[in-house]
Amino acid sequence: MKTLIVHESLFGNTKAVADAVKRGLSRGGEGDGVHAVRSDEAPDLIPEDVGLLIVGGPTHAFSMTRESTRKDAETKGAEEHVRLGIREWIDGVAPRPELPVVTFDTRVKVKLLPGSAAKAAAKALRARGFRRAEQGETFWVEDTDGPLKDGELARAEEWGHELGRRADLHAGPAAR
Ligand SMILES: Cc1cc2nc3c(=O)[nH]c(=O)nc-3n(C[C@H](O)[C@H](O)[C@H](O)COP(=O)(O)O)c2cc1C
Repeated sequence: MKTLIVHESLFGNTKAVADAVKRGLSRGGEGDGVHAVRSDEAPDLIPEDVGLLIVGGPTHAFSMTRESTRKDAETKGAEEHVRLGIREWIDGVAPRPELPVVTFDTRVKVKLLPGSAAKAAAKALRARGFRRAEQGETFWVEDTDGPLKDGELARAEEWGHELGRRADLHAGPAAR
């Protein structure tokens, strides 16, 4: 079974995390491959041979990005223009109730700053009909434009490796 990673990134940090998660997942050699794709290029119909979905994006205004916050990021120097974020992708994707789904996000570590795109994405995915969607990890950036804090890429790779080894996330044909 294949793994699909759908990611969104304005300044490149979440993309770097997605690449690290992909490396970790691929390391074990389990499964038939890991494919990573931007949210604005991700399919609305998840291919049948995908047995694990991972969805990650940056936290904007305590949640997933919106068009307005992405514009804000661009005025702050973001080089990526993201046409559709993970929020909009989730809104349009065809639900797969039994497919294991894990989310992740990036955000800045500011005391008492609530909210997580990973939490919001897991909730939105469940509302969309992905019954098994669960909130995964947060990876920390130093500032709005990054960089990722020391050790976060290694932690992301390790997390990906662990996801690849979690038996409950690889439930086989029934999850299709
Ligand atoms: C408009 C905007 C709103 C943001 N709001 C939050 C927030 O509520 N909480 C937080 O931790 N980080 C916030 N951030 C920081 C982002 O999480 C950070 O830019 C992101 O993790 C970087 O990821 P990227 O390089 O993949 O875009 C915000 C950034 C922008 C541009």
